[in-house]
Parts: sequence; structure tokens; C-alpha cells
Amino acid sequence: MPLKPLAQMAEEVLRTADGREKCALSRRYAADWFAARADGTLPEIGTASPPDFPARPEKPELKDPRGVPRRRPGSPEGRIALLHAVAHIELNAVDLHWDIIARFCNVKMPAGFYDDWVKAADEESNHFNLVSDRLEALGSHYGALAAHAGMWRAAEDTKDDFMGRLAVVPMVLEARGLDVTPGMINVFRSAKDTDTVAALEVIYAEEVGHVAYGSKWFHFLCGRHELDPKEEFHRLVRTYFHGALKPPFNEEKRAEAGLPPDFYWPLAEETPKRPRGSPG
Ligand SMILES: [Fe+2]
Ligand SMILES: [Fe+2]
Repeated sequence: MPLKPLAQMAEEVLRTADGREKCALSRRYAADWFAARADGTLPEIGTASPPDFPARPEKPELKDPRGVPRRRPGSPEGRIALLHAVAHIELNAVDLHWDIIARFCNVKMPAGFYDDWVKAADEESNHFNLVSDRLEALGSHYGALAAHAGMWRAAEDTKDDFMGRLAVVPMVLEARGLDVTPGMINVFRSAKDTDTVAALEVIYAEEVGHVAYGSKWFHFLCGRHELDPKEEFHRLVRTYFHGALKPPFNEEKRAEAGLPPDFYWPLAEETPKRPRGSPG
């Protein structure tokens, strides 16, 4: 049976509300895509009308980040809150990757672009499941706590700008994940929670690939439009990303993902100036 067009698969995932169901459908469609590709076929990309906001479960309650209580990461509750926030990020990432396929299906791209994004969406679905499994093993679940309401902002801001989407989502937000994940792994290592450490190690390794896909296809499009990649990246991030990038950066993993320092350092927040008259 021929596959349905990829953009329609993407739209269906976006319109599925339950987290586990969304991820199951996402993984099934990814498997169908790669089975067809292994047979040497390129399924139709087609067209779609993705929703402005992806369907999401009734819980978690979405709150302004200032309303999401912070807990000490040294406590069991703190670690659950941290994992809950990661689960929310991963579910959002599943939608972001299918959304880029559905929303920009009118732009003609090589088959490898779709291979990369379907693979990333599949991996994010696995990440959500891994983190949800850990939450459940620790006596909680995704939806038990409030979550950050502003996660879809980057998608809204770049809904009409394909290159803006690549600059902000994989090359800024997912790159930020590379900066902060080692610290998170240490929190769970100190708590001797080896199963969570193992889950986060999978996420950390695969996220390098997602940033790399962003950089690869951003550079491809710059080449197509004869634009200087670094200057265009700075222009787009300044247009669509609110605020400065936060050092310290994981320069090693960023380099592995094809993000050179002159892309992100000029966008970093200035180190606070020492107040006048202060010692040292
Ligand atoms: Fe992820
Ligand atoms: Fe990712």
C-alpha cells in the first residue's frame, strides 16, 4: 500500500493530543518512512494545513514560567521537577520537528532533508518516552506538575520563515540543550540514579545530531540563496529570538554539530561589568 504523503503524516502527529499516543504515531510513521526509503522509493511529500498550536493533553497545566515553582535539584522532588521539565521539552520537540515538515512543505528540498527531520522526530519521541518512563518509575508522570507555557513561541515567531525556524530551533534552542545537559546528568549521577543517567546520555548523544541537521540545512539554504551563513544567522536570531544567548557554551559539542564559535559568541549576553569601586 503506498504511504500517505509525509506532510499529512506530520499533520496527524501534530493533531494527536495525548503524549504517549503522539509519540507512538510519530514512531510508526517514521518507521513507515524509513521502510519505504530502504526500498529505494521516495514517498510523496504532499501538502498539509498544520494547526497554529499542536494538540496537547489536558495536563500538564501550562503556566507562565514565573508561575512554575523551582525546587532544589538536590531533593527527590527537585529531580522529578527537572525531569518533568525535560519531558515537556521533548514533547514540544516532537511537534517542532513534524511542524517544520508540514509547515514548509511548499519549499522544494532534497530527500535527505526529510530523512533527517523524520529521524529527529523519531528520536524526540523516544526521548519523551524514556523520560516519561523515568518519571513513572519515580512515582510521578508527565502531567503531574505545571509546565512552561511559552514553549511554542519559537514556532509561532518563525511560522513564515523557514530559515528563521532553522536558525532559532535547532541552532539556538537545541544547541542550548547541549550546554545544559551535562550538568543535568551530574545531578542524577550524584543521586546514584543510573537509569535516569542512561536516559539522559541517549538524549545528549542524539541531540548533537539534531543541531547538526539544523546547521547542515541552514548552510544549504544559504548556498541556494547566495547568503553569507554567519551574517544571515545573526540577522535571523536577532529578528526572531528574544534575548541574548547564555554562556557558558559547550564549544566541543557545538563544534561537533557544525556550529562554529563566531556564530554564537557575538549573540551572547555581555558579561556583567564589575561595579565601579568593587574589589578585585
Ligand atoms: Fe530530545
Ligand atoms: Fe532534539
